[in-house]
Amino acid sequence: MSGNPTSREESFLVRGGTRLSGEISVAGAKNSVLKLMAVALMAEGRTTLTNCPSISDVPAMADVLRHLGCTVEISGDTVVIDTPAEPGHIADDKAAQRLRASVCILGPLVGRHHRAVIAMPGGDAIGSRPLNWHQNGLNRLGARTRMDHGRLVAEATELRGASYELSFPSVGATETFVTAAVLAKGTSVLKNAAREPEIVDICDLLNEMGAQISGAGTSTITIRGVDELTPVSHRVVGDRIVAATWAMGAVMTRGDVTVTGIDPMFIHVVLENLRAVGADVETGPDHIRVRQEGRPRARDIRTLPFPGFPTDLQPMAIALASVSEGVSVVTENLFEARFRFVEEMVRMGVDAETDGHHAKIVGRERLDSATVWASDIRAGAGLVLAGMCADDVTEVCEVFHIDRGYSDFVGNVRSLGGDIERVPIHR
Ligand code: EPU
Repeated sequence: MSGNPTSREESFLVRGGTRLSGEISVAGAKNSVLKLMAVALMAEGRTTLTNCPSISDVPAMADVLRHLGCTVEISGDTVVIDTPAEPGHIADDKAAQRLRASVCILGPLVGRHHRAVIAMPGGDAIGSRPLNWHQNGLNRLGARTRMDHGRLVAEATELRGASYELSFPSVGATETFVTAAVLAKGTSVLKNAAREPEIVDICDLLNEMGAQISGAGTSTITIRGVDELTPVSHRVVGDRIVAATWAMGAVMTRGDVTVTGIDPMFIHVVLENLRAVGADVETGPDHIRVRQEGRPRARDIRTLPFPGFPTDLQPMAIALASVSEGVSVVTENLFEARFRFVEEMVRMGVDAETDGHHAKIVGRERLDSATVWASDIRAGAGLVLAGMCADDVTEVCEVFHIDRGYSDFVGNVRSLGGDIERVPIHR
């Protein structure tokens, strides 16, 4: 898998003025595969996942599982996890802290083994990421959770079905509750659940393994507890955020891109916004084609949980606004610190300012090339798209972030005609 840790010392050089065009396929979603790997902890034996992306978070998650006693083989787009009868329940501190998504082993471990100890991941560039709703959900099911010297400790004698209503449809808290409830005694109901396609994918895998979950993809998920699960083979759902990144890149560079391997309904709201800024959007059962002629028009966008406009595309929305005709207001409702991206756009000559949850961006025809910093996966991708609309060569630093979530980013951008290269850091 690509994306070695030395990419911390690497940058991307992006030459502006190219147009993205051609066809590209997307692999499975980062925010699904990492959770599916964790679900493999719930059944003894070999779970096989196909259509896995070549991103550095996958081997990082494999390390977390290996420290719990699993054997994990990664070969091409296939990940095979062999789970022992009694995996460990204490996550290795270093392995878990390297990957925020390691929190997703919490529900599976508590569900199957009634105990888990996980070092709390550190701060995050996109904002505070508490786990209080994860803990509340587990507590409702009969577990006791506490912080102990920087680790989250969860224990239960038995788990009993229960009802729990989230105050906000958190993706992670939904996953923790559902995975823990699958092997509980009796029926559980989760209200105000997250509805993301990745939640549906996780519930599909669990049902294939013998769970009895209904309502995934709606706000109410019902889980009838079962005694045990058996391992299966499962194909990871396509990555809607990667697909939409290429679609938004097509609009920004006035290109023509067809993306395959994605259900257009997963990015329906994004495509509606692209139509509104002037793009021609065609959809088929598992592909989209996005074409843009002339300069896109400004449009206000606000991020919301699915099916709303995804926060993970907010940097791309700001990058798009930066080259659009007129003034756009982008509202961020999930992760306040994501507006750090605006500072990078200001380096590129954009007239932009933020006020709380809102960013006001005055678009310009062409951006100034500059040295800019990727603060997280999505900001990194947004900066590359912005660099393609700049007058010269933009250096995007700290591209290890991009490698965490995008398979072969450089190869894919080049295959669409973008001018980008990976270089050791220029300092
Ligand atoms: N929140 C709490 N308490 C909790 C849990 C969440 O206050 O116990 C708050 C968060 O602070 C945030 C909001 O609820 O303000 C939403 O957080 P959510 O739990 O939905 O996010 P997550 O599960 O931590 C996943 C993705 C993110 C994506 C968000 C929202 C993974 C590994 N991460 O995070 O993806 O932005 O859902 O869709 O699935 C990315 O891929 O770049 C990324 C950051």
